[in-house]
Amino acid sequence: MNIGILTGGGDCPGLNAVIRAVVRRALNYGYTCQGIRNGWKGLIEGLIEPLDLNSISGILHRGGTILGTSRTNPFKVQDGEQKLRENLEKFNIDVICAIGGEDTLGVAHKLSEKGIKVVGIPKTIDNDLNATDFTFGFDTAVNIAMEAIDRLHTTAESHNRVIVVEVMGRHAGWIALYAGLAGGADVILIPEKPFDLDEVANIIRKRHERGKNFSIVVVSEGAKIKTEDTVDKDGSLILSSLKKDEFGHVRLGGIGNVLAEEIEKRTGFETRATILGHIQRGGSPTAYDRVLGTRFGVAAVDLIKDGKFGRMVALRGNEIVDVPLKDAVGELKLVDLKLFEVAEVFFG
Ligand code: F6P
Repeated sequence: MNIGILTGGGDCPGLNAVIRAVVRRALNYGYTCQGIRNGWKGLIEGLIEPLDLNSISGILHRGGTILGTSRTNPFKVQDGEQKLRENLEKFNIDVICAIGGEDTLGVAHKLSEKGIKVVGIPKTIDNDLNATDFTFGFDTAVNIAMEAIDRLHTTAESHNRVIVVEVMGRHAGWIALYAGLAGGADVILIPEKPFDLDEVANIIRKRHERGKNFSIVVVSEGAKIKTEDTVDKDGSLILSSLKKDEFGHVRLGGIGNVLAEEIEKRTGFETRATILGHIQRGGSPTAYDRVLGTRFGVAAVDLIKDGKFGRMVALRGNEIVDVPLKDAVGELKLVDLKLFEVAEVFFG
């Protein structure tokens, strides 16, 4: 058995732990592994080289991915599928182990329906992938954001300021909710609940009336502001670019600055914004993400051994299970609104 491993989409702490686990488990069974560079792009372009014990040595704690990544969609590339099939043949790859989020696994699912052997491993810092309780990378991102919020607290308090912290989360507010809860945010704004600027200003005003001289607002990049002239009735997104990637996503970012300006205008309190951006995706994974990634990697090779293709490993409770790829890519896993209600107890 020859396994082709690829990592696609945005990078994520824990990817190297997964790659290491896949290769180590594969070697247990006497299988060989090929590293496909830069996600689906490498399979189309034939950027493929063997992965052995040496290539995965010393990578467990390292952030990023030793294989590189891209947002290439083979179905949007001229003759992409045909080239991909030719390279599977040329490099004798029997099965693809695709490590990625909604987009990468969406491609994996499509290929699997077309008869190519694939297994999936769920990755995203956003934690918005369906059919798994958690994805690796999320815990690291939350801890980075929480530490930033802790640091911003002390400077906000010293200067009597409101600080808006913008975190990642394109469609789902998991990072904002967890980091905000853990960091003691005074307001948390997520894509699932379009918000009213006056209501946010009121919460902050009341907090300052009861004697507090600073506030921390955590906002997901994908949070939506309710406005009268909003095109989308659910609220409007703040975009940093209108350009779309091959999966049709626009680039988000900038809501933190808009929000800071509007809060200052409405409350009169000096307000600043901090955009955490890619810092949340960089650097070493937490112990939780290393362990989860390792468990996913081992379980994925066990799926291959059992001939269970077209499936993805997933976390349910504390168990690693497997689910059809289509369950993972059908729709996104949005924030549990009961948990948001817990966070609301601490607003203001
Ligand atoms: O999908 C994960 C994510 O971190 C999103 O939260 C964010 O919108 C996106 O990646 C940004 O990625 P990039 O800047 O690499 O396109």
